[in-house]
Parts: sequence; structure tokens; C-alpha cells
Amino acid sequence: METVVSGIRSTGKLHLGNYYGAVKNFVQMQHEFNCFFFIADYHSLTTHPTPSDLHGNVKQVLIEYLAAGIDPEKATIYVQSDVPEIAELYLYLNMNAYMGELERSASFKDKVRSHPDNVNAGLLTYPVLMAADILIHKATKVPVGKDQEQHLEMARTFANRFNRLYSNEYFPEPYAFNFSNNLVKIPGLDGKGKMGKSEGEANAVYLSDSPEVIRKKVMRAVTDAGPTVENQEKPEAVKNLFDLMNVVSSADTLQHFDQLYNSCQIRYGDMKKQLSEDMIIATEPMRQRINDIAGDSSYLRQVARHGALKARESASKTIKEVREIIGFRNF
Ligand code: TYM
Repeated sequence: METVVSGIRSTGKLHLGNYYGAVKNFVQMQHEFNCFFFIADYHSLTTHPTPSDLHGNVKQVLIEYLAAGIDPEKATIYVQSDVPEIAELYLYLNMNAYMGELERSASFKDKVRSHPDNVNAGLLTYPVLMAADILIHKATKVPVGKDQEQHLEMARTFANRFNRLYSNEYFPEPYAFNFSNNLVKIPGLDGKGKMGKSEGEANAVYLSDSPEVIRKKVMRAVTDAGPTVENQEKPEAVKNLFDLMNVVSSADTLQHFDQLYNSCQIRYGDMKKQLSEDMIIATEPMRQRINDIAGDSSYLRQVARHGALKARESASKTIKEVREIIGFRNF
């Protein structure tokens, strides 16, 4: 059976981009594949969280993973830092990751631009740690959003380079995966780019947002003055609203507003009302479960311990074999 790995950085609450880009796919995959889902807390250290924020964020992501439908009886769900074998594989992979290729990564260049005061080595080698996350379980399928495509390409490069260096077909090639065959990019509400945690509160709708908050955010979403020519192309801000509707609303609803747009009769206020109600319906079951699970500390403890044991079993097997391949020997 093929192995699946995916993760989410523990830098805060899950938003609709995380859910439709990655988590919804995991939830479907856990019934068909050998699935490992983890909370990437090593990765979150690049932004220097305080000790109490670090734990609180990990807990929040664990709660929301479970609320989104990941079943710890079916999939292995764990916290990255509970599996130190990942850090060991990261060290080995770093020995054949080159400065030039790491500096050229789009996400590294983005970070240098947005946080010039904190360009640390962890940021530079972020794709190597991500490759270690995936290769530690020899995964071939990685459900992620479109923004992670380049990281997956780098993971394949590191896997192949290791195999070539040691003349060994040890690591399989991992590929980004989405059931629809296309990787997804969920837009934000600010009319600019993707939905993201670092793009400001108003840009993202979180799974834990209350219905009132969702309505407020959507009503404030950026649009334009409306179409003036029939069937005219939609500018980015408006296309974003349609793209969001495409994931949360029915096909009929989407078509209805599309026709109104094309005949220049659309009223964005009506569209936003419909969109926010559909977002509220789509997130309702998760919102309920987030509250229930958050109050059950002993369940969370049990899930995290059980997941760590299962993940370490798989990871330590890989590390033992990798150490042999590299040439470490006991005296
Ligand atoms: P992170 O925490 O930024 O995002 C988690 C997942 O959500 C997806 N995503 C989106 N998808 C569609 N549209 C959006 N607007 C959107 N925003 C976020 C991301 O593509 C991702 O799948 N580096 C990863 C975490 C990670 C990882 C891994 C993932 C670490 N190691 C190994 C897979 C395998 C990250 O920062 O994701």
C-alpha cells in the first residue's frame, strides 16, 4: 500500500485554504492509504515563537486536525518534534543540499523579502526538513496546496541525489497530490493573492471563526464597481469570490451568480451573503467538534502519545537503514 505524508506548520488556526488545499484530501485518503499526518512544530521555530505560544499552537492544530475528520484509529497523527529521527534524517540530507538551489527557492526568496531581519539558516534549509518529513516514511503521495509544489520538486531532488550518491534505490519519489488531479490555491478575501496566515486577519476565514465573524469578513471582501460589458473577464478580486464559491457552494449557486455577472446584473452584496452562508454551513460541523475536542485534554494526550509511538516505529526503521547505507557501523 502506498504511503501518504502531510503536515501543517503549527503557526496558528487552520483556515479554509489549509482545509481545501490539503486537509480535506487527507481525510479522504486515510481510508485508502497508509497515512501519516503531523504538526510541523520544528518548522515553526523559524519564526521564534515563545515557549507557551509553541505548545498552544501545536495543541490548536491537533484539535483542528481531529475536528476536520482525521481519525487517529485509521491514520497516524503525531507532533513532528516527538519523532527525533526526522531531525537526524534532516542532518544527513543537509549534506547534499546545495546553497544555490536553496537560495533559489521561491518561498525562501519571499521570506527574505518579507522578514529581512530574520533570515536564519532554518529558513534556508526549510525544504530539506520538509523532504525529511516525507522521506522518513518513504511516502509517495503528499496532499498539499499549490504553494508547496516547488518543495515537493526539491524533495524529489534530495531523494534522487541520496539514491545516486549511495548507488541505491532506497527512497521513492514523492509527488504532491490532490484527488481532483489539480493542486488547489484558495484565494484570500483581500482580492490579492492566496488565503494565508501571514496575510492579515481579514484575508483568511478560519475553521474556528463564528458565523458572525465569517459574515463580517466576507461582507468586507474586496470587489470592483461591477461589470459594464456582458461576458467580460473577471478581474482578480472578483474572480477570487467566484473561486471561493466554487469550493463551498453548490454548482447551481455558482452558475446562478456567474450568469448574473455575465449579464451585468450581479449585486455583490447578494453574492457575499450567499457565500458567507455557504461558508458557515461548510464549516459548521468542524466548528462544533473543535469546541468539544478542545475540552478533552486526556483524549488529546492519548492521541498524541499513540501517534508518536506509531510514527517512531516507522521512522526508526528508515533511520536504521539509512545509517547502514551511509556507512555508520558499530565497533
Ligand atoms: P502550511 O502550514 O503553510 O500550510 C498547510 C497546508 O495548507 C496548504 N495551503 C493552501 N492550499 C490552498 N490554498 C491556500 N490558500 C493555502 N494555504 C495553505 C499548504 O499548501 C499546505 O499543504 N511546509 C508546509 C508544512 C509541511 C509539510 C511537510 C507538508 C512541513 N513538512 C511535509 C507536507 C509534507 C507548510 O508550510 O504548510
